[in-house]
Amino acid sequence: MSAPIPLLDVRGLTKRFPVKAKPFSRQKKFVHAVEDVSFSVGRGEVVGLVGESGSGKTTIGRTIMRLTDPTAGQIVYDGTDIAHLPRRQMMAFRRKIQMVFQDPFASLNPRSKVGELIAEGMEIHGIGTPAERRAEVSRLLGLVGLSAEAAQRFPHEFSGGQRQRIGIARALAVSPGFIVADEPVSALDVSVQAQVLNLLQDLKEQLGLTILFIAHDLSVVEHFCDRVIVMYLGRIMEIAPRERLYAAPKHPYTEALLSAAPVPDPDREGKRIVLEGDIPSPINPPSGCVLRTRCRYALPECAQIVPPLREIAPGHLKACIRDDIL
Ligand SMILES: Nc1ncnc2c1ncn2[C@@H]1O[C@H](COP(=O)(O)OP(=O)(O)OP(=O)(O)O)[C@@H](O)[C@H]1O
Ligand SMILES: [Mg+2]
Repeated sequence: MSAPIPLLDVRGLTKRFPVKAKPFSRQKKFVHAVEDVSFSVGRGEVVGLVGESGSGKTTIGRTIMRLTDPTAGQIVYDGTDIAHLPRRQMMAFRRKIQMVFQDPFASLNPRSKVGELIAEGMEIHGIGTPAERRAEVSRLLGLVGLSAEAAQRFPHEFSGGQRQRIGIARALAVSPGFIVADEPVSALDVSVQAQVLNLLQDLKEQLGLTILFIAHDLSVVEHFCDRVIVMYLGRIMEIAPRERLYAAPKHPYTEALLSAAPVPDPDREGKRIVLEGDIPSPINPPSGCVLRTRCRYALPECAQIVPPLREIAPGHLKACIRDDIL
């Protein structure tokens, strides 16, 4: 039996940002934000994308949305490589992939009413008549657990959790097939985080949403994601089905990240593994394996070769040459 075709297939995605050169410097420098990243997301799947600050998570999200152009690589969505689509054709694609942000209203007009903000995407894409759009806004507000009257109010009148519900309604308004949720609960209190995560879980089941869920630490995605991708300094370290990743991490970086997460699991208690030293500069990342400068298992050869992401068990991939650890 062949595997089903993924909804999103990212191959060799690379994004480098040019750094402003010093006067008279002949060397052009780049921030290596994302380096040769490959992964796929199946229809109806929720995939977590986890890593420390600066590991390249948002850049991947923004490149998939084509808010920024990739330096290299393919982004195949539903059979079409959108990494190289002309602007005009990209417009039609914009609707299919939507983003939910950490602060959904940071970039929106605070003088617009919630109803207008939710309907904006429908208007841009010419969906429905004004009356149909108003009805749809009411339906969407109900779907995210808010009353229809919310449409007449302003974003600042709502709490953080409610604002995130409005952000989700806004993303859903154009019936996307894929949602990139970039740390949607990071700014919320823990109790409110659980409510918003539950809402996303319900919506996933109700609407069959496909979600790439970006988070800083592994605890947020533990109960929500089918699979988890762990990143460090622009590269994928490990990909695994959720249960396997938490029960039997196979990459030294995942091991360290898990041991740092505040989990109430006695088995994991007291095994806190601290990575040595600071995170290197993404302008001049280490040769070979990017983790090697901080890895307690590093061998001399780790400086020589970039470890390929290889499958070590069905659906479980790691980028580490050592199989005699963990
Ligand atoms: N527009 C830009 N110009 C230059 N460098 C950038 C730009 N956007 C991101 N970077 C750099 O690319 C790297 C990856 O950034 P990115 O925001 O993708 O990380 P992240 O994993 O989302 O981090 P965080 O958890 O803090 O949100 C960082 O070193 C960042 O400074
Ligand atoms: Mg980010």
